[in-house]
Amino acid sequence: MLFSKITIAAFIATVNAAPPVHLGLRNVTTASERLGLQWLGGNSSLPKILVLYTGGTIAGGSIYGALDDTQYGQLQITGEQIIARNPYLANHTQLAVSNWTSEDFSTGTDDGLVMNMTRFAHDALCSQDSDIDGAIYTHGTNSLEETAFLLDLLVNCGKPIVGVGAMRPWTHLSFDGDANFFQGVMLAANPDSRNRGVMVAFNNRIIPGFWVTKLHSTNPNAFGPTALGDLGAFVNNMPYFYNTPSQPIAKHEFDLQTVSNDPSFPALPKVDILYAARGFDGKLVLDAQSNGARGVVIAGTGNGGIPSGEDEIASALEKGLQVVVGTRSPFGPSTPSRRPTFAKSGFIHVIQSRIMLQLAIASGFDMNQTIALFEGGLRKAILQPWSPET
Ligand SMILES: *[C@@H]1O[C@H](CO)[C@@H](O)[C@H](O)[C@H]1NC(C)=O
Ligand SMILES: *[C@@H]1O[C@H](CO)[C@@H](O)[C@H](O)[C@H]1NC(C)=O
Ligand SMILES: *[C@@H]1O[C@H](CO)[C@@H](O)[C@H](O)[C@H]1NC(C)=O
Ligand SMILES: *[C@@H]1O[C@H](CO)[C@@H](O)[C@H](O)[C@H]1NC(C)=O
Ligand SMILES: *[C@@H]1O[C@H](CO)[C@@H](O)[C@H](O)[C@H]1NC(C)=O
Ligand SMILES: *[C@@H]1O[C@H](CO)[C@@H](O)[C@H](O)[C@H]1NC(C)=O
Repeated sequence: MLFSKITIAAFIATVNAAPPVHLGLRNVTTASERLGLQWLGGNSSLPKILVLYTGGTIAGGSIYGALDDTQYGQLQITGEQIIARNPYLANHTQLAVSNWTSEDFSTGTDDGLVMNMTRFAHDALCSQDSDIDGAIYTHGTNSLEETAFLLDLLVNCGKPIVGVGAMRPWTHLSFDGDANFFQGVMLAANPDSRNRGVMVAFNNRIIPGFWVTKLHSTNPNAFGPTALGDLGAFVNNMPYFYNTPSQPIAKHEFDLQTVSNDPSFPALPKVDILYAARGFDGKLVLDAQSNGARGVVIAGTGNGGIPSGEDEIASALEKGLQVVVGTRSPFGPSTPSRRPTFAKSGFIHVIQSRIMLQLAIASGFDMNQTIALFEGGLRKAILQPWSPET
């Protein structure tokens, strides 16, 4: 017995270090085997759904009892425990957990960790040997939309990826995480979910990952799109799409390998968000740049206005900072200016614009290319030709 354990250990070590050596054991043939995924639950003819587990409220419990929904986080449950709570899962899918939790079980707030998870998801779902039908990621709700948008622009092989979370801890009178998790898995396993981009399953709603944002800080119906509507709903906890698949016009898919070659690897270029208001201090833009930012997104007033600070912005642009101006309004665009020196974000909101700017910089875009990226289609729509500095 001891001998066979050593043989297996040697085999695993060989697999990790190419080139492969054949020891009479069967070849590694699937992504699941290559990545060491353990399939739980359902029988082997059911869809395989990867569970990317990052922690957040869906993992959190409270020592203050069942009424607490603001002070929790002292207790944790694992992805495996969430799965074990729900006997219906195994009748519909096979599930394998992949942990991406940070040490404090808070959530994917670290660009490096989330990018590592993105590379893993891409490998698992999109490589030639993939035997996996879809994925869900569990996430803290505060940055659920950031990861949705990032995955949407980087992992595009048609397989469903669904974001889920919870607004209430599992110790609560009415934990919403079990239903959101189940619905997310059903959505990821549904063949009609293919080619729809990343989606978020929350509170019986199917929301497009490109447009989703957190609209309420504590209510279980916390998420909604800033443009477009929901894609569908859950009925008896099963997904029903009332729209055919479509993708946002403004969606630009980035190449994960190219982005990963940026010196910021394993993270992404530093991009800060500044919030404009009366008395906006343009020196903040220069400060961000001297603090290492390669880009800044400004949440502008109304349709992308900046009350003050033009000189500082111009000076930062000259020194190579990339600037995108969005809107601090919850809905509506920040439309292109006649003679752009920086980008206006269009209908892409500030939090999402930060990620798109990070990916643009990591892809080697200069300011003009970034302007074209954000403004291209919208500039045509408002009959303004691409005419920088003319
Ligand atoms: C394993 O893969 C190698 C190279 O792809 C092939 O030559 C060999 O026949 C395979 N072995 C088995 C048992 O499938
Ligand atoms: C496995 O699942 C399939 C699909 O739901 C079903 O048809 C089959 O009867 C199941 N097999 C077993 C052994 O439960
Ligand atoms: C799972 O499926 C089996 C066979 O159809 C059924 O007997 C069982 O009640 C189901 N379990 C749940 C939790 O629905
Ligand atoms: C994920 O992390 C939990 C908590 O540390 C652990 O119990 C579980 O075995 C891990 N799962 C995998 C697949 O590594
Ligand atoms: C991301 O992966 C790289 C190796 O590819 C590793 O060096 C780094 O520590 C990881 N970062 C995080 C935050 O997990
Ligand atoms: C952007 O385009 C304008 C007009 O074509 C040009 O003058 C300027 O040098 C370009 N800037 C960069 C950074 O390429």
